[in-house]
Amino acid sequence: YGDSSQKIDYVFKIVLIGDSAVGKSQILARFARNEFSLDSKATIGVEFQTRTLVIEHKSVKAQIWDTAGQERYRAVTSAYYRGAVGAMLVYDITKRQTFDHIPRWLEELRSHADKNIVIILIGNKSDLEDQRAVPTEDAKEFAQKEGLFFLETSALESTNVESAFLTVLTEIF
Ligand code: GTP
Ligand code: MG
Repeated sequence: YGDSSQKIDYVFKIVLIGDSAVGKSQILARFARNEFSLDSKATIGVEFQTRTLVIEHKSVKAQIWDTAGQERYRAVTSAYYRGAVGAMLVYDITKRQTFDHIPRWLEELRSHADKNIVIILIGNKSDLEDQRAVPTEDAKEFAQKEGLFFLETSALESTNVESAFLTVLTEIF
């Protein structure tokens, strides 16, 4: 039955959500393939990618789902959240509106996903510090109030992307 090193102990589904253009697809590209593209196209429908990693001597396959932030391109919501054990709620630190919409995304998540889902709030594009519109403290406070993990990431510079996924995967575990 094939190579024993390919044995998978767990498969965890993680969903990415947040407004259009915050960088969800590039966070996923960075994590799954260590790639990044500046001229990333808006996602239409649903895509997913996987990466297998070893956590506490077990091989864990992370199956990460990515959908469109734009309403008109979004797929059926309940199917997207079904079976998800982790969620990444992403905003862009340079676009205040994307942070102001986070409560709505959280509401959608909480109404469709399992109540024990592990959620991390992610402020992406931390490389654009000179254009920052969302203070780290505001996000930290919101995350604390809502019981979410929180990290700022840069898919471009590869900052904290690995840590963000590991935070969720380790907590699920
Ligand atoms: P939808 O699919 O429409 O929901 O958007 P998305 O959230 O998937 O955004 P996407 O990953 O396509 O990225 C949107 C734009 O932001 C692209 O031009 C990316 O190159 C850029 N981008 C993504 N992450 C970063 C980052 O960490 N830093 C910078 N400077 N740009 C980024
Ligand atoms: Mg996308």
